[in-house]
Amino acid sequence: MTVQIRSSIRFLLNHRLVELSAVSAVQTLLDFLRIDRNLRGTKEGCAEGDCGACTVLVGRLLDGQLKYESVNACIRFVGSLDGCHIVTVDSLATPGGPLHPVQQAMVDTHASQCGFCTPGFVMSLYGLWMENPKPSVTEIEKALQGNLCRCTGYAAIIRAAEAVSVIGDLDRDPLVAERATIIQKLEGLKDGKRVEIGEGSERFLLPASVDDLAEIYEAEPKARIVAGSTDVGLWVTKFMRDIAPVVHLSHLDELRRISVDETGITFGAGVSYTESFPLISKYFPQLIELWNRIGGQQVRNMGTIGGNIANGSPIGDTPPALIALGASVVLRKGKVSRTVLLESFFIEYGKQDRQPGEFVEAVRIPFLDENALCGLQDHQAAGRGHLRRLRRLPPDLRWQWQGLRSRDRLWRHGGDTEAGRQCRGRVNRCRLD
Ligand SMILES: Cc1cc2nc3c(=O)[nH]c(=O)nc-3n(C[C@H](O)[C@H](O)[C@H](O)COP(=O)(O)OP(=O)(O)OC[C@H]3O[C@@H](n4cnc5c(N)ncnc54)[C@H](O)[C@@H]3O)c2cc1C
Ligand code: FES
Ligand code: FES
Repeated sequence: MTVQIRSSIRFLLNHRLVELSAVSAVQTLLDFLRIDRNLRGTKEGCAEGDCGACTVLVGRLLDGQLKYESVNACIRFVGSLDGCHIVTVDSLATPGGPLHPVQQAMVDTHASQCGFCTPGFVMSLYGLWMENPKPSVTEIEKALQGNLCRCTGYAAIIRAAEAVSVIGDLDRDPLVAERATIIQKLEGLKDGKRVEIGEGSERFLLPASVDDLAEIYEAEPKARIVAGSTDVGLWVTKFMRDIAPVVHLSHLDELRRISVDETGITFGAGVSYTESFPLISKYFPQLIELWNRIGGQQVRNMGTIGGNIANGSPIGDTPPALIALGASVVLRKGKVSRTVLLESFFIEYGKQDRQPGEFVEAVRIPFLDENALCGLQDHQAAGRGHLRRLRRLPPDLRWQWQGLRSRDRLWRHGGDTEAGRQCRGRVNRCRLD
């Protein structure tokens, strides 16, 4: 396969086109904004995706549609932004000009005190406003799960979110009114080429296609694949790990496809939690609570199901539920693909059935039989009766109950029978009060 190569990345930053040919594989978007571009409105709090002070919007094209999502700039690598539109808080109002409706709403409802968290809240609320101009309180809380404020209190911020549509007209917002022009500019950046930048520990690649990814990764199996970077970002910002050469996936539309047939749903490995949510909630409503508790909105916008499985983390939240549902992973090495049941994919602690140069291409969840029982069983709420029922299970299924701790959840599907399938795992709690 002959692939054309480009040695720069190109993206829109607020109103400008940026082209970079000298950028490190581990340069974060936050450092790029604050240090290289002197855009200091975006703040650094935790540098690990928890506090939301660094929230910016990233617009990406998929099938001609442009969607803006809130992301954590502190754990997003600049190299992953080829073809995107980055919107920072600095662009919302011109000096001396009127505030953006979201900013005005924050002022009117006294939703800011020290102000450190405020730019992050503004950007999360801006993202929400574009998607849902009249959100309910629950929807506002969900959109703000990834933003922490330690002095104002959330009630005023929620009132601000409710006030935005009273103050502003979404149709006149620049990102809505100028959408066709922005789409045209972003389409113009797509040239179907592979991007290769840097050398040695600075090197990163953006494959031209999934076939190109397969070729690159087979030839260089020690390269680090980066999808949403919600795990890998922290290896850099917290552990100072050298991760290059890096191969990015988030720009590959082919890996962001979702297909539904009569027997189940197949999610491309690059599908994020947010992108998968509509179909997950339609076909597997038992998973809604789990999905809503993964990270905050920014992490769900970036993080992928494929990454949660490929990282092999013993505290990953989706594998227990997906194993219980009988999900499988499609693995690919070079031109060869194979499908493995997720339960067989995890061999033992930290060890997976994945060959060097083999990557996760898709995750498939089969539909449940009509009469199948599936649920998120709360260990404490389940009580003794349930414990007695579980004791009747064959020993190979029973172990999953033993050692459950108070925050553990037991995923079950198929009833208390040998044919049933279950798996335990933890779900993080998230509260806004
Ligand atoms: C603030 C915060 C909160 C979080 N909360 C949760 C939570 O509640 N529950 C939870 O389970 N996780 C949580 N995470 C962890 C993380 O979001 C998930 O594990 C996520 O699914 C990782 O996906 P990613 O696309 O970001 O992976 P990345 O960080 O890009 O990659 C993770 C690993 O998978 C590999 N990888 C990624 N895609 C592929 C592929 N297609 N083929 C082969 N290898 C691949 C990478 O090489 C790397 O080793 C949280 C993270 C943060 C920062
Ligand atoms: S700085 Fe805290 S989430 Fe990025
Ligand atoms: S206003 Fe001070 S942390 Fe939110």
